[in-house]
Amino acid sequence: MAKKKIGFASGIGFILAAAGSAVGLGNLWSFPYKTAKNGGAAFVFVYIACVLLIGFVTMLSEIHLGKRAHANPITSYKKINKNVGWCGLVAIAIPFFITCYYAVLGGYTVKYTLNSFSGNAGILGTFSVNVGEVTLYTGIFLLLAIIVIMSGVKEGIEKMSKILMPALFVILLAIVAYSLCLGEGVKEGLSFYLNPDFKSLGIQGVLSAMGQAFFSLSLGMGIMITYGSYTGKETNIVRSTAMICLFDTLVAFLAGLAIFPAVAHFDPTMLESSKGVALIFAILPEVFDSMGVLGSIVSFLFFAMVTIAAITSVMSLIEVVTQFFIQKFHAPRKRSALVAAALCFAVSVPIGISLGKVGILEESGLNLFGLDWLTFFDEVTNTVLMPVCALFSCLAIGWFIGPKNAIKEMEEHSDKKKINSVLAAVYSVMVKFITPALILIVEVFGVKSEIDGGNAPVVIAAYGLIAVCVILYFIFFRNAETGTNNDEIAVDGGRTLESFNEV
Ligand code: PFF
Repeated sequence: MAKKKIGFASGIGFILAAAGSAVGLGNLWSFPYKTAKNGGAAFVFVYIACVLLIGFVTMLSEIHLGKRAHANPITSYKKINKNVGWCGLVAIAIPFFITCYYAVLGGYTVKYTLNSFSGNAGILGTFSVNVGEVTLYTGIFLLLAIIVIMSGVKEGIEKMSKILMPALFVILLAIVAYSLCLGEGVKEGLSFYLNPDFKSLGIQGVLSAMGQAFFSLSLGMGIMITYGSYTGKETNIVRSTAMICLFDTLVAFLAGLAIFPAVAHFDPTMLESSKGVALIFAILPEVFDSMGVLGSIVSFLFFAMVTIAAITSVMSLIEVVTQFFIQKFHAPRKRSALVAAALCFAVSVPIGISLGKVGILEESGLNLFGLDWLTFFDEVTNTVLMPVCALFSCLAIGWFIGPKNAIKEMEEHSDKKKINSVLAAVYSVMVKFITPALILIVEVFGVKSEIDGGNAPVVIAAYGLIAVCVILYFIFFRNAETGTNNDEIAVDGGRTLESFNEV
């Protein structure tokens, strides 16, 4: 059997890496404030329904698309039908653009971690407009991620995820335990976070829960296709998908338990404003500040945890682009990762500048159609493109490959042959009809809210990007080789396609 260098070495390695991608700023930052804002337990309830009805089905489909092809997203789609390979190009373009802004926020988390002992209260206004510092920390953050990616899927991504994910979970549990034992204010904090209020949920809250589920589970882009392509027979993708969804949701839920009781205990005046994006970079530092000496330690642990979460997420984003460069251009992994990260870094510089001046200080400066660059990129990718891409993967399984064939393939590609027949029947109906319909609703309402909010350029840019991908695909990729994991082996040495299926 060939040397096993490319691809995950174990099922648990894959689960932890995929969970590392899923658990990120979306869990530790957006989920808690969106829950508090949109009706507490009512939001959690809808969110869990979204994870089950949309998240699970889409994730399983994406992982399978990668696993059956053992290739990058373009080739994975091409193997279904040569004329739909452009969906894969869209699925590579999205993580590229997300990395560009995610890295800026990742840079913020590195800064806040290192600065914990000097105090982060009130630094947002000065730090965010210090172009040199923001650029430096963005660069450090990207560097940390690509050092891991350069070492490969097994030696880098898998090994690091096996260390970092348990570390993150232990830190989170420690902060939750600390928060819940604070006594005074804990009850108020919990009720602020979780008190069910269906009135504040509304249709907007439901849509927010749906969008949050996509982003949090890293769906609707190439990530799960790429990670899925690196799995072998040892990985039972149905069970893995269930575990990734469960872990991601659990971490998001726990993050709220860590945050709100502490806010209510130390600085109840901050509760109301912690319902917004200011939560982790403006509100929490004030709360840590009012904790006294212990505050620096809790702040350090908290931001270290957020940094870990963000690094394992950005690793997965850059890996999609890196995998494509390796397989298509036969460039070595190290060079591919460097080029991918350098391109993202170049775009992240104006994003960082614009975020500070326009996004945070709300002054005039670098903007795109009145929005700061980060918000613009975020809305193009999250609101418009991710649902489209998720829809592609469900349609690919539901209508092109066919759910029956897909289930047969899943069974053939796994050591644990049989998939529960009820589950198989439910998945078949979901992936063909229900999940695509729900995703379509997310897309339509997302586009409508952008247009109603005066952000039509966001929609035009997003659909324009899809059009560009289609054109580029038909000119450059449709009739050319786009590579598989076997090409990666030819470049870097490692596990052959046959061995993916044998093991
Ligand atoms: N899922 C990550 C989070 O919740 O922060 C963010 C993310 C990572 C989104 C990777 C998309 C992605 F492909």
